[in-house]
Amino acid sequence: MYSSKITGLGSYVPDRVVTNEELSTLMETSDEWIQERTGIKERRWVDEGSGDTSATMGAKAAKIAIERAGLTKDDIDFIIFATLSPDMYFPGCGVQVQDILEMPTVGALDVRNQCSGFVYSMSIADQFIKTGMYKNILVIGSEYHSGGLDLTTRGRSVSVIFGDGAGAAVLSRSEDTTKGILSTHLHSEGKHAKELTVEGPSIAHWVPEILEENDPNDTSYYPYMNGTFVFKHAVLRFSQAIIEGLKTNNLEASDIGMLIPHQANLRISQFVQKKFGLNDDQVFNNIQKYGNTTAASIPIALTEAWEKGKIKDDDIVVLAAFGSGFTWGSVIIKW
Ligand code: UT7
Repeated sequence: MYSSKITGLGSYVPDRVVTNEELSTLMETSDEWIQERTGIKERRWVDEGSGDTSATMGAKAAKIAIERAGLTKDDIDFIIFATLSPDMYFPGCGVQVQDILEMPTVGALDVRNQCSGFVYSMSIADQFIKTGMYKNILVIGSEYHSGGLDLTTRGRSVSVIFGDGAGAAVLSRSEDTTKGILSTHLHSEGKHAKELTVEGPSIAHWVPEILEENDPNDTSYYPYMNGTFVFKHAVLRFSQAIIEGLKTNNLEASDIGMLIPHQANLRISQFVQKKFGLNDDQVFNNIQKYGNTTAASIPIALTEAWEKGKIKDDDIVVLAAFGSGFTWGSVIIKW
């Protein structure tokens, strides 16, 4: 058996900064409401005409991660791409990245697990590496939310939260099984699928509706979220995923060197921090600058925490996510 080690990290966010003030010119909202309820001050949105998409942003983040791993695109054995905002209904963004980066004909897999997408992808990559099947796997989380949000007051409870961006990691085979990914933990509860969803495009909300006259009251193409319901489940499931990961490895909360929670809402991260008695140096948040970037939030935050020197050799790093599905999970790493 081998162990999977993160050997490279990279991120990319669009240049365009969208402040809460700017949003308040589009819909009835305010900087005060957004900051108080979510912690978000600004987010990045793709600039029209920039050519940025989930696939291209993912490719930019991936290029950095591959370089930092000291590898070339030809060393990558497998691509995993997590997104809820793919460029196309099909095929997935993984093959697009392969094309953009001119990679060889290795396998490419898209993961549709929303905010938990990166955690799921890391777990999949870990299984392939541990068993010896692959040596270097590129894992990407990337989202282009802004093109699909309801920017009227009707959609404000969701639209103010989401941001665009991408993060990537290279996982590589290591013979030192005392370090790297120690364990991963995945869960889902499909009965809550409709509490956080975009129904269209789908077979039910696709050809028939597109062919019909565009109905301004049709919200099936916009994200819907039962916010308070999701919030309550988030705080519970985040905590459970972390406890499960710690217990599996005989660790205590005090052993955590760095917790990178999916950046869903600063209040959720603060709740989790308090519950586990973690100090500010043990948790990394950057939702204030980027909003909720769904599958990209953990790799963007992990990259930034690492770039700032906040993750040190031998640290226990915990990644935890919760989101639509519902899906949730954690990754426990010894750096
Ligand atoms: O990333 C995947 C997982 N996602 C999450 O975990 C997110 C979980 N949920 C949340 O983060 C929060 O529920 C939200 C940030 C989405 C909403 O915050 P909330 O404190 O739950 O607010 P609410 O939905 O209960 O709305 C409170 C009030 C309502 O007005 P009334 O009915 O009290 O008059 C809303 O209409 O705030 C109103 N409101 C807004 N006001 C100004 C909702 N959105 C806005 C807005 N600006 N953007």
